[in-house]
Amino acid sequence: MELHNSINRENLTILMTSFYTKAIADEDLGHYFTHELGDDITNEDWIHHIDLLADFWLAKILGEDTYYGNFIGAHVKLPIIKKETFGRWVELFSETADEVYVKDIAEVFKQKGIQFSKEFMNTNKKI
Ligand code: HEM
Repeated sequence: MELHNSINRENLTILMTSFYTKAIADEDLGHYFTHELGDDITNEDWIHHIDLLADFWLAKILGEDTYYGNFIGAHVKLPIIKKETFGRWVELFSETADEVYVKDIAEVFKQKGIQFSKEFMNTNKKI
């Protein structure tokens, strides 16, 4: 697949679909997602989630007016997540960014992914 050199909703949907397909299949991460959204990435809940996450990233990276949710709050119902599991999230997310975007853009996603993951990990520990 040719690497994308700009960010838009269409290629963000590709990034998200590819990332969550791997996350669902992952031994450590999979159950958190399948418990909430099921194991069929084409179902209605997953389509909604992927759309929401495209909005999230459009807002966080391009500063678009697309996401005003509370992403930390949305994870409160999840159980305590081990540090290694966050590490796995970052690993899969980074790997997928490299498969979808040219180096400079992939790097931005990777940095943001690490930053949000740390933020979320610190909150998760206190719950
Ligand atoms: C081990 C790490 C993680 C796990 C297991 C996890 C799991 C989940 C689950 C189960 C949901 C809720 C789905 C639903 O019920 O609708 C969710 C929502 C979400 N996650 Fe994560 N997540 C993780 C890390 C992250 C990180 C690092 C980010 C940010 C880069 C992120 C961004 C989001 C966003 C934006 C939502 C939607 C929030 C909303 O409803 O507005 N997640 N996540």
